[in-house]
Amino acid sequence: MPEVLELIALSGSLRAGSYNTALLRALPELAPATLRFTLRTIAGIPVYNGDDEDAHGLPDAVVTLRTAIRQSDGLVIATPEYNNGVPGPLKNALDWCSRPPEPHGLDGVPTAILGASDGVIGTARSQHALRQTLVALNAPTFTLPQVLVGRAQTKVDAAGRLIDESTRSFMKGWLLEVERWMRRFPKSERLP
Ligand SMILES: Cc1cc2nc3c(=O)[nH]c(=O)nc-3n(C[C@H](O)[C@H](O)[C@H](O)COP(=O)(O)O)c2cc1C
Repeated sequence: MPEVLELIALSGSLRAGSYNTALLRALPELAPATLRFTLRTIAGIPVYNGDDEDAHGLPDAVVTLRTAIRQSDGLVIATPEYNNGVPGPLKNALDWCSRPPEPHGLDGVPTAILGASDGVIGTARSQHALRQTLVALNAPTFTLPQVLVGRAQTKVDAAGRLIDESTRSFMKGWLLEVERWMRRFPKSERLP
């Protein structure tokens, strides 16, 4: 097991002022030095169409993302909540990543999820739905505690910095638990 875990941090939002991306940007400040994060985006991933896949294979943006995830020690996904569920662009990106060749992008990759919304329950419903998708992808998923950041507009400043001290403190503890859990799934024991 490496001393430092290299994790991919994937935002489910394309918005420049995204609260979810703000959570991910704060991770390096809140995490122990034994976790390192690379922020990745779902930007540029086309809407899935099986005919396009048959004709052209995986788009470059999908290959880039799924390779980065497979080569990482683990994945952290920050999901917004749209109409009680996982936003279409994020689900679409995960659907692309689940396509052959096997093992697909997330197969066996330990994954932790968190989320922020301007509502009061902080993406509880979309995180629940995302867990169901991760079951289908055979991605072991961290369970508790959950990071549910409600009223995010009061916790992220205009520069996109997570400024709410209680959220920052909670996430510090969460990251310690996530690291302990992720170390149970060494990359060397995954299908190559
Ligand atoms: C189509 C749409 C549906 C939404 N549905 C919900 C919802 O069900 N629950 C919720 O808490 N917020 C909902 N929101 C508000 C989002 O939480 C808010 O836009 C949030 O800022 C999105 O995340 P982001 O800041 O990372 O882009 C919705 C927003 C959009 C655009």
